[in-house]
Amino acid sequence: MRTTYLVGNWKMHYAPADTRTFLARFLSRIGTVTAGREIVFCPPALSLESALEAVKSTPVSVGAQNVHHKESGAYTGEISAPMLQSMGVKYGIVGHSERRQYFGESDVLVNQKAVALLNCDITPIICVGETLEQREAGEAQVIVRQQVEAAVAGMDITRLIIAYEPVWAIGTGKTATPADAQEVHDVIRDTLRSLGDSQRVPILYGGSVKPENIDSLMAQPDIDGALVGGASLEVESFLRICQYN
Ligand code: G3P
Repeated sequence: MRTTYLVGNWKMHYAPADTRTFLARFLSRIGTVTAGREIVFCPPALSLESALEAVKSTPVSVGAQNVHHKESGAYTGEISAPMLQSMGVKYGIVGHSERRQYFGESDVLVNQKAVALLNCDITPIICVGETLEQREAGEAQVIVRQQVEAAVAGMDITRLIIAYEPVWAIGTGKTATPADAQEVHDVIRDTLRSLGDSQRVPILYGGSVKPENIDSLMAQPDIDGALVGGASLEVESFLRICQYN
């Protein structure tokens, strides 16, 4: 049975006290987590410790939203993979389009960050996705294929997760149709196979995932979960997403 992943990317929301309140409510409502489903919360760095404490002894995991690619050094404000590992963080988002856009993160840097996480036994969730201009120019598949090849260069690709997040669907309410998402996931699957993936790397979809569309997305053969922004900030919405049919 394949494992599916429901990952909440909280972005710049929920300080430690809010994190504790949210997770107490969520965990009191989730009941038993369906076998084969991984639920992960990625809070801001300042809230990682609160989140790890809240989910201790539960099947829920915690991930970071970012990481520096060096193990230590004079990098003001940054956090290293060894620091995340020492806390018990299990996942790390890298290459999110907002970091590529606002912080100039290149494919090379995304690759370096993913390698840094793998070196600390943290599973990278590598984000790829085209902009609206690239999609309208018919370049979506080429762009995504290039991003995947660059991001996973030189690494053991059986130990990572890919998240396809069409930039034009993030925070806009414009979800890719399940067919559109499946089409690009198929391209990513083909790319990974050509790079030696024999164990079916999980590919998550992200971009306006809501309770209303999770079931149709998860019905697609190459969608192995969701990377959820806004809807993961609401207990009821994320519960329904985690309990997809
Ligand atoms: O990383 C997930 C995020 O980019 C998607 O955001 O609000 O469209 O679910 P949202």
